[in-house]
Amino acid sequence: MNMKLTPSLRALRAGVCAVLFVTQLAVAQSPRERLSLDAGWKFHLGDDWPKTLRLDKAGANAGPASEKTFSDATWRTVNLPHDWAIELPFDKNADMNHGYRAVGPGFETNSIAWYRRAFELSKADEGKRIYLAFDGVYRDATVFVNGWIVRRHEGGYYPFREDITDVVKYGERNVIAVKVDATKFEGWFYEGAGIYRHAWLEKTAPVAIAPDGIFVYSQFKNNAPTGAAAIHVEADVLNTLTHAVKAVVNCEIISPDGKSVAKFKGSQQMGGELQATLKLQSKVSSPVLWSPESPKLYKLVTTVSVDGKTVDQKETVFGIRTAVFDPDKGFVLNGQPCTIYGVCNHQDHAGVGAAIPDALQAFRINQLKTFGCNGIRTSHNPPTAELLDAADRLGMMIMDENRLLGSDSDNMRKWDVMIRRDRNHPSIIIWSVCNEEGSVEWNDQGRNTARSMQNYVHRLDPTRPVTYPAPQGDTVGGINSVIEVRGWNYHPGPDMDKYHAKHPQQANVGTEQASATSTRGIYESSRETGHVAAYDAAPNQWVTSSETWWSWFADRPWLSGGFVWTGFDYRGEPSPFGWPCINSHFGILDTCGFPKDNFYYYKAWWTTNTVLHLLPHWNWPGREGHEFRVDAMSNCKEVELFLNGESLGRKTMKRNSKLTWNVKYAPGTLSAKGFDAAGKVIADTKVETTGDATRIELTPDRKMINADGEDVAVFSVTAFDAQGRFVPVAQNKINFALEGAGKIIGVGNGDPSCHEPDTFVPSRSVRVVALNEWRWKVLPFPGRDHSAPEYALAFDDSSWNVVKAGNGESTIKTENTTAIYRAHLTLTEADLSGPGVQIHFAGCDDEGWYFVNGQSLGETHDWDAKPDFDITKFLHLGDNVVAVCCRNGGGQGGLNPNVTADIIAKPTISPWSRSLFNGLAQIIVQSTKDAGEIKLTATADGLAPATTTVKTQPCTPRPFVP
Ligand code: GAL
Repeated sequence: MNMKLTPSLRALRAGVCAVLFVTQLAVAQSPRERLSLDAGWKFHLGDDWPKTLRLDKAGANAGPASEKTFSDATWRTVNLPHDWAIELPFDKNADMNHGYRAVGPGFETNSIAWYRRAFELSKADEGKRIYLAFDGVYRDATVFVNGWIVRRHEGGYYPFREDITDVVKYGERNVIAVKVDATKFEGWFYEGAGIYRHAWLEKTAPVAIAPDGIFVYSQFKNNAPTGAAAIHVEADVLNTLTHAVKAVVNCEIISPDGKSVAKFKGSQQMGGELQATLKLQSKVSSPVLWSPESPKLYKLVTTVSVDGKTVDQKETVFGIRTAVFDPDKGFVLNGQPCTIYGVCNHQDHAGVGAAIPDALQAFRINQLKTFGCNGIRTSHNPPTAELLDAADRLGMMIMDENRLLGSDSDNMRKWDVMIRRDRNHPSIIIWSVCNEEGSVEWNDQGRNTARSMQNYVHRLDPTRPVTYPAPQGDTVGGINSVIEVRGWNYHPGPDMDKYHAKHPQQANVGTEQASATSTRGIYESSRETGHVAAYDAAPNQWVTSSETWWSWFADRPWLSGGFVWTGFDYRGEPSPFGWPCINSHFGILDTCGFPKDNFYYYKAWWTTNTVLHLLPHWNWPGREGHEFRVDAMSNCKEVELFLNGESLGRKTMKRNSKLTWNVKYAPGTLSAKGFDAAGKVIADTKVETTGDATRIELTPDRKMINADGEDVAVFSVTAFDAQGRFVPVAQNKINFALEGAGKIIGVGNGDPSCHEPDTFVPSRSVRVVALNEWRWKVLPFPGRDHSAPEYALAFDDSSWNVVKAGNGESTIKTENTTAIYRAHLTLTEADLSGPGVQIHFAGCDDEGWYFVNGQSLGETHDWDAKPDFDITKFLHLGDNVVAVCCRNGGGQGGLNPNVTADIIAKPTISPWSRSLFNGLAQIIVQSTKDAGEIKLTATADGLAPATTTVKTQPCTPRPFVP
């Protein structure tokens, strides 16, 4: 058992703990709640309140963080996950590697945004611990609760959680405000902007399982997966009370078929304000093992009780398996050699950017599985937890990667957070310390740092090794000399054999391979369009074709297999071209997940399915007689090619290779037959010269989704000619209309050079009116008396003093006197037809009482406060009056007349549309919480339209904060 005093516990004051003790019994029957905070955030793009942050006084920040005076009523409402970068235009001057979105360095006004969300806590919540958790915010987040800064978090890829118990209010409204600053980049690829993962409000009893406090792992005798598996549980229990308690921890293991297979328990006397780790052990006889082919999951139910009462219960999904990287056999799963057919992926998808709904994670994994992929490297950062959940469930092995090499406390904290969060996932087979740290990987400091990080893993996870994706060949020094599993970024060839011969004790894995570029459905590269021919050519020396790397690895089982750069195309890194190309071409799938031709290469050699695929398409009007290269991706023993029925020769397929012919174009049918070793035809395929597109089809990935407001259906839009043939060159613009229980959240087409919008958000335009002419007079203090005639519209102030903005003469100079200030705001019908009007004050020294047309807006009691109010409901057509009673406490005082009103115009929403790219487009539709039907219609000029429905079934949505 080990006990430690956590910093947050140390900070608890004795007085607070007395209250907690009294309320302990009240919550003993209320186990934890984890409530989704995704829906209903208010969002504002722009750093309109740069001086919000006050570092001199606690709980007194001006602007959006201040619950009392700030109104966000006119801000747009968004749901999380949300990525505002995909809403921004493309700009040639923006960063190429981040996909030319107008965000980041040089685009400061687009790079800072505010989110606000209110929530209530009932009186019954008093005495519980309340946590606010964010799974990922890109990038720097300043989080306020009720005006208190509760967290300043740097870094875009790590979850963070804060105990906000001390600053929340019970039985009333609480306000969270988050300032997100995406001005700085972390990576060299598209990273998104905003609260792009889930957010949660968590409640626990004062004695509870600590955040990420359950670790469960299995071990077999001699690491051979036969017989019983020993199950180890480490349960961190947190006692936030000031007095000692005896925590009893009961564990139950539920098998994949729902049976209780083990029960065991332990207890711990623990002092006040302490965290204790209970180490418990049990076994599961004849366990069902987890593997990509059979992803069977167990569940651990951990219950904590104190004085016979349940204070917490938590379910943890885990799997039982062995996973070893062996220097000779390569990767061994459950005792059997298991080649890793892996891909590296970044975390964005067409239409939604980095804000990926959970169901889309499953969609992406399923797309990868269709070509035999069994592994993902989460390059170059820890993924969202839901990707790991989907990988556990669907059977996908994961290399979980940390963002940056570093053994300083900040980087080690991040490393710690990632490992504690992720270590229960059976899908994770290896940790990666970082990617390609070229400037330090070879030196002693790089070596020392990686070794410290690796040693730290041994303390937290005795079951998995660590690797480092090294862009080095036969290089021994630095990180490679200490890392458990040598990671190979590129360099397939003799260097690998030489290194292996010199380091026979070190296991190896292909952490990053290929980087072959191709565009879906494109067979002639063009600098102007930014497209790359899909013939799997290696554009420069250090990258290789799919065939080059894979045939090298396939012959060397000790290499463990590897991870292709990349599974999906991603935004940014448009190599080998730049503008107008805005996304990468490395994918086996495009940004939507549509297969490129290389998909069939991998499917041929990574699955046992019979594969026969021909490229290119056969629509080349005007190019008759031109010689085209024709490739066959196949695992048949021999392939014979035909043009319009005439044989162009039969060729023998080399293992892990492909076949090539040169064919003079003539319209018609290019076809092929595939033969087995006995000469029997086992496959045939054809590509035909098609007519123009005449109709479109809409095909959802699923016909039924959950009516939980989160699930998504991913529709493919496909073009066909009059004879029902797919038209591989169709580029028609498609318009979408949706009726029923869903909404469109994103569109894409996989074209790396398409600048059409991914998402259609309401346009927001604001007319800013300066109220810079004020009339004022020193008067006795009417204060809160709303009926004072000076606050009313119909008051004659013509004899009062005049003060204008900008001349510095706004002040009442005598101490302890008050003055009333009045200004007029004239509004038209158009002004009043929008979502509202917001007024911004620039300061009222020292106290202010604010009115519109005689109605009170609120008050301030701080000379530096700059309140904003939503004044919509007090306004009418024509003349309106804004009045402020200002009291000067000492020194100079008065109203700063630089007051502005934002008149927000009625938003307009363009209809959703997207052009096909080479015959295909994608549209992502999300359910609402209403069960029923989603009807999606696609139309295009000159094409027969398509309508498809998807049902949304009733379900219990996950618990959420209303
Ligand atoms: C690698 C790097 C990847 C990506 C790739 C492009 O060296 O690790 O992040 O940039 O090159 O080929």
